[in-house]
Amino acid sequence: MFTPDMLESIKKVEATRAERMGVEPRRMTAEEKDSLLKAFHPDYRADGFAEIQIGPNKGQKAPKELTGLLHSNSRLLQDKVDLSKVDYDVDVLVIGGGGAGSSAAIEAHEAGANVMMVTKLRIGDANTMMAEGGIQAADKENDSPVQHYLDAFGGGHFAARPELLRRLVMEAPDAIRWLNELGVMFDKDEDGRMVTTHGGGTSRKRMHACKDYSGAEIMRTLRDEVLNRKIPVVEFTSAVELIKDEKGQVAGAVLLNMETDDYLVARAKTVIIATGGAGRLHYQNFPTSNHYGATADGLVLGYRAGAPLLYQDTIQYHPTGVAYPSQIFGALVTEKVRSLGAMLINKDGEAFMHPLETRDVSAASIIRECSERGKGVDTPLGSGVWLDTPMIEMIGGEGTIEKRIPAMLRMYLNYGIDMRKQPILIYPTLHYQNGGLEIGGEGFTKTIPNLLVAGEAVGGIHGRNRLMGNSLLDIIVFGRNAGKAAAAKAKDVELGTMNLDHIYSYAEELKAAGIETEEVSPLLLPKYARHER
Ligand code: FUM
Repeated sequence: MFTPDMLESIKKVEATRAERMGVEPRRMTAEEKDSLLKAFHPDYRADGFAEIQIGPNKGQKAPKELTGLLHSNSRLLQDKVDLSKVDYDVDVLVIGGGGAGSSAAIEAHEAGANVMMVTKLRIGDANTMMAEGGIQAADKENDSPVQHYLDAFGGGHFAARPELLRRLVMEAPDAIRWLNELGVMFDKDEDGRMVTTHGGGTSRKRMHACKDYSGAEIMRTLRDEVLNRKIPVVEFTSAVELIKDEKGQVAGAVLLNMETDDYLVARAKTVIIATGGAGRLHYQNFPTSNHYGATADGLVLGYRAGAPLLYQDTIQYHPTGVAYPSQIFGALVTEKVRSLGAMLINKDGEAFMHPLETRDVSAASIIRECSERGKGVDTPLGSGVWLDTPMIEMIGGEGTIEKRIPAMLRMYLNYGIDMRKQPILIYPTLHYQNGGLEIGGEGFTKTIPNLLVAGEAVGGIHGRNRLMGNSLLDIIVFGRNAGKAAAAKAKDVELGTMNLDHIYSYAEELKAAGIETEEVSPLLLPKYARHER
C-alpha cells in the first residue's frame, strides 16, 4: 500500500502517461554519460574505497569492506590443521555451489574426472538462483557474436579482456543449446523458437529467458544434473584456505564444517574457485539483490594464496532495486520490466532518461534524480523513482505482466501493490562485482598453477560494467570451460607435500605493513548473521 504522498505523485505519473506513450526518451551522449558517472556513480566516491597495502594488488584501491577482508587474518594462524590427515582426495575440487560451480562439476565429470563440490550453504544457494531477466546469446539470424562483442565491449567501457569476452560471445549459442538440452524451460513461441528481448545496451534482441525466474530455472536444471550424476556435494562446509605444495601449485583446500566447526582437508590436483559475488558486504551501505552467501570468499582465498585481482574497484549497482515497500528493500526488479516498456519517471511525472541505458549510467541517473535534482519520492528508507509498469500492459496487451514477469507481479501483490495498475518505486541496489580474480582465456589464474576461477569471482570478462544477461552466460561458458580444463590438467598433475606456507608469509606481510587486526577472513556469512547453536 502506498502512502498519501506517494499516491499524490502517482497521479502526476498517470497524468503524463498517455503523452509519454510511443515517445522514446533521448539517449545520452558519451560526454553526458561520462560526466554523469563521475558525479553520481558510487564507484567514483573516494570515501567508499581504501588502498590495498599488501599482496599482488598493493597500492590499488578496492571497496573499503573488501580491503578490510584482504587485510584480515587467516583462521588457520590460530586453528592448527594437520594436513597429513586427508579427508577427501580428488582430481577436481569445485568451491561453490552455484551455476558456475555446477556447470564446472558437470563438465569435469563428463570428462571422466573424480570431482567434488563443496559449498558453505546448499547447492543452488547462490546468486544464480536470484537471477531474473535472462541470458544473452547471439543465435538469431539478425545477430552475431561480433555484434554481441561490440555491445558488451562498449557497455564495459572498452575494458573487458578481449580473450575472455571473445570466449563469452563465441560460446554463447552453444551454452543456450546445452542448457536447452539439459531441460531448461526457455520461453518459446508457438513455433518453438526462443522468445528474445532487449536489455540495456543491446543492439539486438538476444535475451533468452524463463519468464522472470531465469536463474532459478537454470539452477534447478544444473542441480538436477549434478545430483543425477551423483557428483559428491559437501554442503554447509566452507573452504577457508587454499593448500599449496612445495612446487607452489595448488593442492587442495582446508574446509570448515559450518555445523560442527571441524576442519577437513581436501587434496585436489586442480581447484576451481566459483564462489560468486560480494553483495552481502553492502558496499557504501547499499542494500543488495544478492544471495545471503555473497561475501567475496573466493577473492580472499585466491588473493592470500598470491592470485591478483582485476577491476576490484568497480561494482555494479542495479538501477532498479525495490525502494518500497521496506520489507523487500533492495530486492531485484528485473531489467526485463524496462525491456517490456516501463519507463523511469520522477515524482513530477517526468521521464528523465531513456529506460535502457547501460546499468551504470541508469543507476547514476536515478541517484542524481533523487539527490541533486530533488525529484525522488520519499520512502521510509530513503527515496526512489517510479517505474511505470502499467505501460507494459498498454504496450503488450492485458495479461503481459502475468505472462512475462509473474514473479514480479506476485512479489508486489504480497504487499498489496498491483503493478499492472500502479507504478512501483525503485532505487539502485548492489548487484554484481565487475572485478575479481584475474584469469587467462582457459580459466587458469596466471600465478598459481592448477588454480582456476569461474563465474562472478572472475574479473575482466565484462570490463568495468556488465550488460544484463551476460552473467548467467558467463557462469555457463566459463564454468563449463573450467570443468573441462581442470579435468584435462588433472591427468598430468603430480602433487607434492601439502603446506600452508603462504598464509604465514601473508601474515608476515601484514605485520610488515603495520596492519594489526583481530578480524579473520574469508567472512563466510554476512556480518549480521546469527551464530547460534
Ligand atoms: O535485471 C535482471 O534481470 C538482472 C540480470 C542480470 O544481472 O544479468
